[in-house]
Amino acid sequence: MEYPEFLMDHFQSPRNVGEIADADGTGIVKNATCGDIMQMSIKVKEDVIVDAKFKTFGCGAAIATSSIITEKVKGKGIKEALRISDETAKDILSQLSRDKFPCFTLAADALRLAIEEYYCNKQKIHDKGGIREEDLEKILP
Ligand code: FES
Repeated sequence: MEYPEFLMDHFQSPRNVGEIADADGTGIVKNATCGDIMQMSIKVKEDVIVDAKFKTFGCGAAIATSSIITEKVKGKGIKEALRISDETAKDILSQLSRDKFPCFTLAADALRLAIEEYYCNKQKIHDKGGIREEDLEKILP
């Protein structure tokens, strides 16, 4: 399968690789198909994502998508970042065959978990138990 140039660029020169030491939220997800792992960490100030970094044992598709998403969500409010992240994954998928579907959604899933952790810490909720999308929509600015 041939990947578009913009994906190859992010795969060959990934941006925002690493981990934020004093992150406000961290999300870790596993690709159930291959077992690879993705970690996304975010720094948030006044509900705006000021930094986002990722680390993964994933494939080129996961690396490229993570690089793109971390670039796009910096400087965005959390609700907008969630929307951008999901739309970016869908947009990339729409340009490709779907044979690597989980690889392209790992970053968006990890970002969602990082935002959930941020929200739970902010609200001092210790039993996360999963926050529904509707709840995030209502609560986040
Ligand atoms: Fe494992 Fe893509 S093959 S993340």
